[in-house]
Amino acid sequence: MRFPFCFCLFLSMLHFSDGCNLSDHSELTKVTGYTGGSVLLPCSCADLQSTVKTFTWKHYYNREDQWNEVFQDDNRTDRLKLFNQNSPANLSLLISDLRKEDEGEYSCYTSQTYTYVRVTIKGCDLDKNKPTAKVKGYSGESVVLPCSCTELQAKPEQLTWTFTAPNKNSEEIYPYEQSERVTGRLRLLNEISPGNLSLQISNLTKEDQGEYRCSVSSQQHINIRLRVQEELYFQSICLSTNKPAKNREESSTTTQHTGGIRRKQPQILH
Ligand SMILES: *[C@@H]1O[C@H](CO)[C@@H](O)[C@H](O)[C@H]1NC(C)=O
Ligand SMILES: *[C@@H]1O[C@H](CO)[C@@H](O)[C@H](O)[C@H]1NC(C)=O
Ligand SMILES: *[C@@H]1O[C@H](CO)[C@@H](O)[C@H](O)[C@H]1NC(C)=O
Ligand SMILES: *[C@@H]1O[C@H](CO)[C@@H](O)[C@H](O)[C@H]1NC(C)=O
Ligand SMILES: *[C@@H]1O[C@H](CO)[C@@H](O)[C@H](O)[C@H]1NC(C)=O
Repeated sequence: MRFPFCFCLFLSMLHFSDGCNLSDHSELTKVTGYTGGSVLLPCSCADLQSTVKTFTWKHYYNREDQWNEVFQDDNRTDRLKLFNQNSPANLSLLISDLRKEDEGEYSCYTSQTYTYVRVTIKGCDLDKNKPTAKVKGYSGESVVLPCSCTELQAKPEQLTWTFTAPNKNSEEIYPYEQSERVTGRLRLLNEISPGNLSLQISNLTKEDQGEYRCSVSSQQHINIRLRVQEELYFQSICLSTNKPAKNREESSTTTQHTGGIRRKQPQILH
């Protein structure tokens, strides 16, 4: 009589405590993310039908030399997402809008097993060894001032573009414009890559000539020197031949139409 009872109790205890055996629980998973992006920390029960009673995600903070529960001790819960509501055995953690501080070791705990995930976050660094780039533009046209993180997928935690006209003080032009001179003429070309910090200036004028600086931190910046050339001769030819704007772009690649004046696309010289 006593034996089967104990056996049943034992089985039911086993059922609860062994609800979820994590897959890969002996391995360290390595994932890499980029600042501003997101990263999925995998964790799931080997048997996707199993029920999970309790589990936690912990992050090891080197600075404090301790493991903290990410949903309790953290102030980043709005950047964390779980998927276990729809798939209870999937305990993976998604961290979005990544910061450099998200780097480190994470651990997914269920009642008796755990897995480790090492998260590496790549941030935005500028190529500091680059010499000052020299860019030439033509008045009335647009020009691209090149600047990019060495990792094109990384978004800088801050970005400013400043402009210094000859013998003038420098002024910020992006993201805050300090003068109306550039209003409506600037565009950041980061649609495809968050680490592409290149700035397009359209409708150039001679006053745009000067030194530009792209900064991602107080230590990291690159300089670009912009020279703006007048294009009066070219414009007068265009007017006299009365070409539509589209053809003007095409004719600009051939030299014949410009009466012997070599018309170059804006280019980067080193
Ligand atoms: C969990 O893993 C242990 C050891 O590998 C095994 O003995 C146990 O039966 C597993 N439990 C479940 C519910 O899969
Ligand atoms: C919480 O945020 C502050 C600044 O907003 C930061 O200094 C601190 O390290 C954060 N704490 C944790 C545990 O991430
Ligand atoms: C867990 O959910 C995430 C997000 O939907 C998915 O990418 C991942 O593949 C899932 N993991 C498993 C083991 O199903
Ligand atoms: C940045 O974007 C511009 C416009 O899309 C492109 O011409 C340029 O090559 C890009 N720069 C890098 C480093 O990819
Ligand atoms: C370009 O500049 C000229 C002269 O400053 C101005 O008349 C024109 O409206 C500007 N066009 C645009 C699109 O900003």
